[in-house]
Amino acid sequence: MNEFETLELLTGDEGIAQAVKLLQQGECVALPTETVYGLAADATQPEAVAKIFAAKGRPSNHPLIVHIPDETHIARWADSEPADLQKLADAFWPGPLTVILNTKAGLNNPVTGGKDTIALRVPSHPLFLKVLIDLDTGLAAPSANRYKQLSPTVPEQVVEQLTGRIPAVLEGGACEHGLESTILDLTSDELRVLRAGPISAAEIEQCLGKPVTTPMDHNEAVPGNVKAHYQPNAPVTLVKTDELTQAIQSESNKNIAVLAYSELVLAELNALDLQPKLIKQIASDAAGYGKGLYYDLYCLDKLTPTKIFVETPPVSDDWQAVNNRLSRAASFEFIPE
Ligand code: TXA
Ligand code: MG
Repeated sequence: MNEFETLELLTGDEGIAQAVKLLQQGECVALPTETVYGLAADATQPEAVAKIFAAKGRPSNHPLIVHIPDETHIARWADSEPADLQKLADAFWPGPLTVILNTKAGLNNPVTGGKDTIALRVPSHPLFLKVLIDLDTGLAAPSANRYKQLSPTVPEQVVEQLTGRIPAVLEGGACEHGLESTILDLTSDELRVLRAGPISAAEIEQCLGKPVTTPMDHNEAVPGNVKAHYQPNAPVTLVKTDELTQAIQSESNKNIAVLAYSELVLAELNALDLQPKLIKQIASDAAGYGKGLYYDLYCLDKLTPTKIFVETPPVSDDWQAVNNRLSRAASFEFIPE
């Protein structure tokens, strides 16, 4: 697919106006959100939505999130507003929370991937919001990566993955959270987090005063959330902190990249015979780690290592979103005990 010679970087007010115009004309444009860059198209134009699936190489039964400018748009897409939704919207919108609702009767739109439910969110990134408000429509936007690859958190990653496939990206710098939104299913009495993200289940529980389940094996409910996902080209292996140095020492090929956060481990690694640029330090707090993860994996991958070893983060609620993405990046490949 090479429909567009270049992928234009749109900037400033003029860039916003160009993005709005392209979207009105039924084209796809990559836009920054507070989570990751999204590949947007007008959700009310089926041919425009079809271009998203084609540009990503994504199966058409994997539904898309519709981004709306505010809560008044919910009724255009969903059949009812559960009582919990108002509280959630007050607390978390605009922001990185996606809710799953039953579709409005007769909504026959490719964004649902053939399901009778719809995913909605109001994003908080000022550029995305400005485009939404100017258009006064819903914008379907999956992450702006090719199917199964790393989600982009900076424009250069979009350019690399989608040149030839879409006309433009709106420049918005690095994304604030770096991991995709939390997805919460509101279609049944049991509230379920289908994808962990920047807003934790505990925060949602606190907001609603009722329990929220977070089974990580709910993935059949999120068709796009396949096991092998978010993968760089080099295979990713998760290694426990106290096994990392030893694991690297026992590798014969030293063209290994390492993503680590423990100072002690980093000091040990620096003493080994590795290329320093293949060792990257990532933040040791969950928010900072999440923000840097995709970009750091992308940067390491560009150096074409044979493998990427990632120091396993702690296991606790705060780290759920990070651990979820890492287990997919590694596709559950652990170093045996
Ligand atoms: O932060 C985000 O959510 C980013 C930015 C661009 O907003 N978007 C994003 O979209 O991550 P995407 O398409 O990469 O992931 C959306 C996930 C997919 O796994 C999809 O299957 C799921 O949401 N989804 C969408 N509609 C759904 C529905 N009706 N029921 C269940 N899952 C749904
Ligand atoms: Mg995605």
